[in-house]
Amino acid sequence: MSSQESEYNGFFPATRMRRLRYHSGVRRLVQETVIRPERLIWPVFVRSGQGVRTPIASMPGQFQLSLDEFVKEVREAEQLGLGGVILFGIPDTKDAVGSDAMCESGIICQAIRAAKDVVGKDFLIISDVCFCEYTDHGHCGVLKQNYAGQWDVDNDATLENLTRQTLAQARAGVDMVAPSGMMDGMIGAIRRGFDANGFSELPIMSYSVKYASAFYGPFRDAAESAPQFGDRRSYQMDPLAAAEQALREVELDLAEGADMIMVKPALPYLDIIHQVHDRYPGVPLAAYNVSGEYSMTKAAALNGWIDEKRIVLESLGSIVRAGAGIILTYWAKDVARWMA
Ligand code: PBG
Repeated sequence: MSSQESEYNGFFPATRMRRLRYHSGVRRLVQETVIRPERLIWPVFVRSGQGVRTPIASMPGQFQLSLDEFVKEVREAEQLGLGGVILFGIPDTKDAVGSDAMCESGIICQAIRAAKDVVGKDFLIISDVCFCEYTDHGHCGVLKQNYAGQWDVDNDATLENLTRQTLAQARAGVDMVAPSGMMDGMIGAIRRGFDANGFSELPIMSYSVKYASAFYGPFRDAAESAPQFGDRRSYQMDPLAAAEQALREVELDLAEGADMIMVKPALPYLDIIHQVHDRYPGVPLAAYNVSGEYSMTKAAALNGWIDEKRIVLESLGSIVRAGAGIILTYWAKDVARWMA
């Protein structure tokens, strides 16, 4: 056989998908997955002091900020067009019940007031509602001995404190609360507390589907909130639980008055995000791209093993595609800059 002659004498495609890919303008025109800065929420860690910007070792690029530094960052986040920030407080003193979280002079209420002073009306100041950063034992509520004599979080006593915590935040001017403690009834308790005290307009974004995940490891360094004994498996969901359990959590939260729901973590639970979105298509759905997801990518990027920007946009794209319209991510400001 001569070198001119082809051995191939057959099939040529009539439909060529590559026509949608040759030209960058065509590619852009037919894109469907859109990442929008105004749908991103940036998690921020605040603490007391002046001029404090303590780098979080396990989360390169993230800091514990004193309020003066925090307001600068909030202004920048607003200018970048982000949807808002979600606040995590690190109090000066912790105790058995997490008192700092329940008083209007506590770190989180101070941060809410400071932020509300500097931002316009479209930028959201959201509070993470939990006790793990504020208790000396690091659990997400008040402790009691359970039926088997083990120390565990007292669900119903914690509900009362969650009402106190969220009312203090509401009085400080928070725009939305995001309860993350996985207590049964937390949404109903907070909703009732708000409605009875003149805050019926304040929305609740529930961490409805929150797994007991190893992906929170770096966050617990950042927020100084690692449990001093045991783990969170008696309240956060089992990563290997049936998806149906996630749907039941969502159903209950909606019945109790949640306005938005969240799945957390994001990337290891895209299937759950998808199922929740499928079952409740009209309910605003958020996903939390958590600390472990951030730190793993950061570590690889700092080693020069991956292209951070491309990995992040691809990952966030997968979260949007799965069905989450809102994403909480430590990359929020970077993404806004990349997209500008
Ligand atoms: C609880 C809370 C946690 C995170 C958000 N809210 C930690 C936990 O449940 O242990 C984790 C966020 C992250 O890993 O980025 N206050």
